[in-house]
Amino acid sequence: MIADSYNRIHDYLRVAITDNCNFRCSYCMPQEDISFLPHNKLMSVDEIVAISTTFVKMGVKKIRLTGGEPLVRTDGAEIIKRLSTLPVELTLTSNGFLIDRFIDVFADSDIRSINISLDTLQPEKFLKLTRRDAFNKVWNNILLLLNKGIYVKLNVVAMKGINDDEINDFVSITKDLPLHVRFIEFMPFDGNYWNKDKVLPASDILQNVEESFSFIKIKDEINDTAKKFKPLNHEGTFAIITTMSQPFCNTCNRIRLTADGKVKNCLFSSGEVDLLKAFRNGDDITGMIQMHFAEKHKERGGQFPSNYEYTDTARINNRSMIKIGG
Ligand code: 5AD
Ligand code: SF4
Repeated sequence: MIADSYNRIHDYLRVAITDNCNFRCSYCMPQEDISFLPHNKLMSVDEIVAISTTFVKMGVKKIRLTGGEPLVRTDGAEIIKRLSTLPVELTLTSNGFLIDRFIDVFADSDIRSINISLDTLQPEKFLKLTRRDAFNKVWNNILLLLNKGIYVKLNVVAMKGINDDEINDFVSITKDLPLHVRFIEFMPFDGNYWNKDKVLPASDILQNVEESFSFIKIKDEINDTAKKFKPLNHEGTFAIITTMSQPFCNTCNRIRLTADGKVKNCLFSSGEVDLLKAFRNGDDITGMIQMHFAEKHKERGGQFPSNYEYTDTARINNRSMIKIGG
């Protein structure tokens, strides 16, 4: 078991398999820092499987592949197939662009649920945000997933002045499609020009939705980061991930492994431990993992004031999102 000093048990591993991406979202990938890891610094397929297996032996029950964009890895299919033989729920977060190429791999590997990141429903805005003219491709891939009976959650990073005018459009698409839209409060990472005025807090999102829809609160699972709602007579749902305005760290069960094989006990931890180096030296990584989690902070890596509006980004020590891996 991977426990910390606040009695939290960590059984959900998020593995970044690359720090590369075929999109260029500015909130994720700093423009000035666009060098990717050389091949030999990335975990190989065998290393991903071996390190993940160690985590499974320590009690991990769910693995999510992230990136960067996990599907840009040329050996992505092999990674998915091999991890699918572990006794875990396997899932991934993708930007949606390459989903059609992997659709049979998902079926063969019993992938039942996928998170797709999509911040706008407008093709021109999509091009501005991602610097790729790919809205239609991504949208068709979302429909393809639904057709194949895969549960789809859409991750929408809610940003004032960027997509706050689309909140109700996102809720509208859950009317006839069984999509689960999740609005994520914009979070600060290295180089992403965060400031408090760009955060669209949950209270504003709910107020906005209330003007156009009737909805009820639905039950959240114990380790859920999202507060879920069901608009009446809609096929799908919407939810809000309130990392900034109401953190949910007290039930956190997440472990993060970066593409270069470093474990992080929190999305906002400044510290990390180099498991890949130890693994390549033939050392036992179990004790290193236990020790790192024993040091886990109570909330948001110990790096935030309780009111997010007072966050001083200059004092936060972390990687950029693309180098952490969602
Ligand atoms: N704030 C909030 N969410 C973010 N994501 C990436 N960067 C940020 C940020 N700064 C989202 C991505 C992806 C998920 C893993 O995290 O859109 O869907
Ligand atoms: Fe790529 Fe996702 Fe980051 Fe956008 S948010 S640059 S799609 S990894």
